[in-house]
Amino acid sequence: MIKRRRILDFKQANPASLTFPAEFAFGAASAAHQIEGGNSNNNWTSFEQFVRPDGTPGIRTGESCGMAADHWNRFPSDLLLMQEMGLDVYRFSLEWSRIEPQEEHFDESAILHYREWCKNLRDAGLKPMITLHHFSEPIWFSNKGGFEKKENIAYFERFVRFVVPVLSDLVDFWITVNEPEVFSVMGWMLGEFPPGKTDPAIMAEVMENVLLAHARAYHLIHELDKLDADGDGIPCQVSIAKNVLLFDPKSKWNPADRYLSKMMNRLYNTAILESLQTGVFHLSMPGQFDRKSHVPELAKTLDFIGLNHYTRSLIKFNPMKQPPFSLHTDPRFPVNDMGWELWAQSFYDALMMVSELNLPIWVTENGICDAETPDLRRVTFLTESLYALQEAIRDGADVKGYLHWSLMDNFEWAHGFGPRFGLYRVNYQTQERRLTEGGRLYKTVIENKKCSKR
Ligand code: FCB
Repeated sequence: MIKRRRILDFKQANPASLTFPAEFAFGAASAAHQIEGGNSNNNWTSFEQFVRPDGTPGIRTGESCGMAADHWNRFPSDLLLMQEMGLDVYRFSLEWSRIEPQEEHFDESAILHYREWCKNLRDAGLKPMITLHHFSEPIWFSNKGGFEKKENIAYFERFVRFVVPVLSDLVDFWITVNEPEVFSVMGWMLGEFPPGKTDPAIMAEVMENVLLAHARAYHLIHELDKLDADGDGIPCQVSIAKNVLLFDPKSKWNPADRYLSKMMNRLYNTAILESLQTGVFHLSMPGQFDRKSHVPELAKTLDFIGLNHYTRSLIKFNPMKQPPFSLHTDPRFPVNDMGWELWAQSFYDALMMVSELNLPIWVTENGICDAETPDLRRVTFLTESLYALQEAIRDGADVKGYLHWSLMDNFEWAHGFGPRFGLYRVNYQTQERRLTEGGRLYKTVIENKKCSKR
């Protein structure tokens, strides 16, 4: 059961009256493989050829990522879109397989290409926030077992050593790993992401290794980035982007559902964040896995909380399933195009939950897939989510910025191009970008905030 500080009244949510602190930043987030195009040397391109034991293809729709939104070539015009929207921050990831296409063979031109983006962003008045690992990694690294093997973390460290000094004068915000829990659960427990495995014990091992990779990168970045790009006196701030998925019992009268929701909130949400504060890693699901270790390197490796939040789930005990539960939505609320429940209360709850860790918070992702035209669910979603954000800040959450997922439509991993998360709609035939109604609303909120600052 989620600990709820209060229940919000969304009838009060009005985009025209939203207010945010003067220094609050608005932005958008993306990931290399999902928009750049032309990435044919990573685990996700291999996954396009993968077939699960039940005969389904790795990418459920059978699509290939191909040119995606061609962001690699269209960055200058995409930057104009960011400026038009009034963004302060752009979060994007570096594609490791471009920068180190073969083991120990670094492509200088690829990292300089990203350096150019960072320079262009700065010149346009935006701050870059860089993700070093956002689900994609070079084929050579996966072939060695990727993060299944602890010794492979050294390859990630070498990559970090190569890229950080090239960007340190332009970048102050670093996300080491995007959603370690989604990456490991989807890849090694549910078989939805590469390498398509379904072994809970290996999943727990991968999770521990990925957190260790984060910790090593955290220490390295602090060693390598001594340059303060934005003049605030702090050369770098480092975190992970943590997907917080909240669980409530399907029936609050059922003790098994209540137990499961409590266990999952701990396992999926707080245990992971706390391990990066205390150094104690303890991941346990009865009958599935139980890993406990004390890794001093993990301790105190969050300078802020990077929060990715999309939805809440209702959990129901189901002994016929493995693991023994099923996930549901509440029929009183609408869902997005992927069936995720839309109730912005959960965003408020997630913010209040992570604020208990007493660190500054950056919302590193929050968004909705809505393919309809006009995208009215996106308009309501944004209105209510930004209201939830305002209320969380009023109730004491130290939120520094909100980065919407995503600037433009993109390749949604195993779901292909169907889900439309963009503030800009992409026509993949012509590569034309069109502002959505949700995008218009976001732009207005940012404009209002900037006006009230003056
Ligand atoms: C998050 C991922 C991001 C995107 C959104 C919809 O879990 O970090 O890449 O796919 O979901």
